[in-house]
Amino acid sequence: MSAPDAETSALLEKALAEGLELIGKARDAPSLEDARVRSLGRKASLARARSSLGRMPEVQRRSLGAIATSVQRRLEEAYRSRKEAFDALNLEKRWQEERIDVTLPGENPPVGGLHPLTKTIWEIVDIFIGMGYRVAEGPEVELASYNFDALNTPYEHPSRSPSDTYYMDGQDENVLLRPHTSPVQIRAMETQEPPVYIVCPGRTYRRDEIDATHMNTFAQIEGLAVDEGVTMADLKGTLGKFARTLFGKDLDVRLRPSFFPFTEPSAEMDVECFVCRGNGCRVCKQEGWIELLGCGMVDPFVLEWVGYDVEKYSGFAFGLGAERAASLAHGVSDLRYFYENDIRFLQTFRGVS
Ligand code: DAH
Repeated sequence: MSAPDAETSALLEKALAEGLELIGKARDAPSLEDARVRSLGRKASLARARSSLGRMPEVQRRSLGAIATSVQRRLEEAYRSRKEAFDALNLEKRWQEERIDVTLPGENPPVGGLHPLTKTIWEIVDIFIGMGYRVAEGPEVELASYNFDALNTPYEHPSRSPSDTYYMDGQDENVLLRPHTSPVQIRAMETQEPPVYIVCPGRTYRRDEIDATHMNTFAQIEGLAVDEGVTMADLKGTLGKFARTLFGKDLDVRLRPSFFPFTEPSAEMDVECFVCRGNGCRVCKQEGWIELLGCGMVDPFVLEWVGYDVEKYSGFAFGLGAERAASLAHGVSDLRYFYENDIRFLQTFRGVS
């Protein structure tokens, strides 16, 4: 063997020994990569030995070339098996880190819910549906004739004044934002013959100063029952059942004489104060009772307006504020809470039906 041969062959042996040692010593993926570059890279002993082969005669080049190739294979093999071991280790580590225990309770994403007012309206509507009523709706922009004339409201009635009601057509005062849901009664009766049993939830508007008990935009629920032989006893029984379903079975209700142009006789229904049970407290302003709704026997004038036979049919009607009902049902002292959209307030009703 000539001197350059011996030198190259020693270089190859050294490349193999050093390379195997470097690869064997690697403790993780980065140090293994470093070992690969140093033993198999362009500047490694192996590469240097290979480049010296080019200057050798054919015979030596072949025999040393074969050795160089086998050194390279062994180093590559050592590298690959190490790499596989690290990859497996890494995979194992990822399995540990990313393991999902499907039996653990999940994180609850925030869930929206129905607005407390909507819930109360649905609850009230449901009670009447349970008694055989159906839902009727009407427009929020209403004709004065349906809102006042058909409901027997005299021209001089204060509710007709633009300081009470929003008119849409200025001085003409024929078109308005309805201040109550009562015109829905007229629209419903116009389209059908008795028997009529309807509840009419809807938005209403009044030119009111906003405070704890008044809103200029609010919601009402109207009710109407017209049939043969309907009496005040039906009114009392129906509304009593309704109030007790909404507020609790053992709460007393009472009817108090009142006045509405479209009912005769007219009454206001009070519920026994659910806080003091009639003794008088702050919530009921020492009255022992809380006013819930207006009602009465439908004035024959109204039935005649829609062309019903007043000899044959009679009816009762009622109307209540949804905000008032909701605040009584949930002990909310200020109606404005329902419209401020403060999530802290609204969240307290999650799950409350
Ligand atoms: N519309 C009345 C109001 O807004 C409430 C009302 C009272 C409706 C008596 C009725 C009723 O149907 O019979 O104050």
